[in-house]
Amino acid sequence: MCIISLVNPPAMRIQVQALSSRVSTEAIVIAYFVKANLEKHSLWRTLRASERVLIQRLVRTKDFSGKTGEAKIVYRTGGGKVVLLGLGEEKKWNQRSLVLAARQAMVVAKAEKVTSVGLALESFMLPGMSIDRVAQALAENAVMAVYDFPNYKKEKIPVKLKSASFFVNASEFAAAQRGVSAGVIIGEQVNLARDLGNIPGGEMTPTMLAQKAVEVGKQTGVKVQVMGHDALKKLGAGAILGVAHGSSEEPKFIIMEYRGASASEKPYVFVGKGVTFDSGGLNLKPGVHMNDMHLDMLGGAAVIAALGAIAKLKLKVNVVGLVPSVENMPGSAGYRPGDLLKGLSGKTIEVLDTDAEGRVILSDALTYAERYKPKLVVDVATLTGACMVALGLKTAGLFTPEKELQIKLTEVGERSGDYVWPLPLWEEHEADIKGTFGDVQNVGRKGRYGDAINGAAFLWQFAKKYPWAHLDVAGPMKTVEGQFLAKGASGVAVRFLVELVR
Ligand code: BES
Ligand code: MN
Ligand code: ZN
Repeated sequence: MCIISLVNPPAMRIQVQALSSRVSTEAIVIAYFVKANLEKHSLWRTLRASERVLIQRLVRTKDFSGKTGEAKIVYRTGGGKVVLLGLGEEKKWNQRSLVLAARQAMVVAKAEKVTSVGLALESFMLPGMSIDRVAQALAENAVMAVYDFPNYKKEKIPVKLKSASFFVNASEFAAAQRGVSAGVIIGEQVNLARDLGNIPGGEMTPTMLAQKAVEVGKQTGVKVQVMGHDALKKLGAGAILGVAHGSSEEPKFIIMEYRGASASEKPYVFVGKGVTFDSGGLNLKPGVHMNDMHLDMLGGAAVIAALGAIAKLKLKVNVVGLVPSVENMPGSAGYRPGDLLKGLSGKTIEVLDTDAEGRVILSDALTYAERYKPKLVVDVATLTGACMVALGLKTAGLFTPEKELQIKLTEVGERSGDYVWPLPLWEEHEADIKGTFGDVQNVGRKGRYGDAINGAAFLWQFAKKYPWAHLDVAGPMKTVEGQFLAKGASGVAVRFLVELVR
């Protein structure tokens, strides 16, 4: 087995250029609303007369009409290409369409094997969205769109696309530059989380995940502390240790601390599930259900990457990241159904299914969070298949007992591009996870019904001392067709966590 030492290098450089400067990128994107006036496009004047005639004709004959997702390549007379990109109807243009269009522009340019691509920021503007936010969204999604994970292929096809230029009016230059800088940082950190996820379970062990967190710390100045088996034993983290028992891989508890504000300011605490491989344990997962389970640490990866982004953005907040990391394996040493684990909280956990391991390890981390007297705790976890059934593959489940927080976080999801949607968490749900022989049990008393809620209700028992929300990101942990992103880990929740504290 080969250990890859470094994650992928930064995908692409993005520069902001004044519209008055010469447009010399190999491809230019003419982003176009249905029935828009081509002559008003900021890049129109950069085209040669013969090219304009050709493009006008394509529009006249309806070979290109500007529908959402439509893309046509026009070869330029002196070399290079024009990408005609359909943005749909202008009145339907919104932030979601902006995300997809930005990615599609890059995916098309990448497929065309050009080395550089230029676009006019103006053609992506949205009423009510500032220049820097549009620039950020474009940059963030461009960086996400060119990402690939070729590390394990013998034949690596190098990505030719190395740079993008965003053309702006001179007066918008500073704002656009600000947005691009932030967008590139966030996009790259999303890609870091994707890398951590895509590395197979045989290599991405708790030890390696902790090592990656330490690397992020070295790059950014975030303080990173890693507890191993002995330290966890001394701490009394019996829940983490219980789940880890069946694996030869040592469990790690990763603690990251970023100080961007005065010490008196209460921190946000982000908690991420870091199960580097989830076999189900003795309640072994059947058949194909085990296939994606190297991605079961994506909540943890999101927390690690988000702390990196927040530090690079120098945000004036205090943030703590907590990632309990284990491998969930069966074997003679593995924890058993019926076992009663006593964790940090002192409550006993009745294990009735070793495959409901995420909530068990998170219980120790949520209890540990108390010592920071947090302003808010958000945990991110690929927690339940039931949440995927409920909300599908594009939306994370949001659980919190506090209504106002629910509304606020739904909006954070919308703004960030990591879409979340509320599911209920009420007092009457707490009865469903009451233990028979222990204080709480790790599966619902009524079987599989409402499993996502059962998981949230379980976590809630350990999160009573501060404002708290839980994101179940099992659904959107992988990219899906139509998102214009490479197959594999999505890097879900990095953008959400960064947007939350901004
Ligand atoms: N990691 C899984 C959840 C999961 C499943 C994430 C599929 C992504 C794709 C989690 O540890 C798990 O196994 N949950 C169980 C809980 C059940 C035993 C109560 C599940 O959802 O089946
Ligand atoms: Mn499981
Ligand atoms: Zn799991």
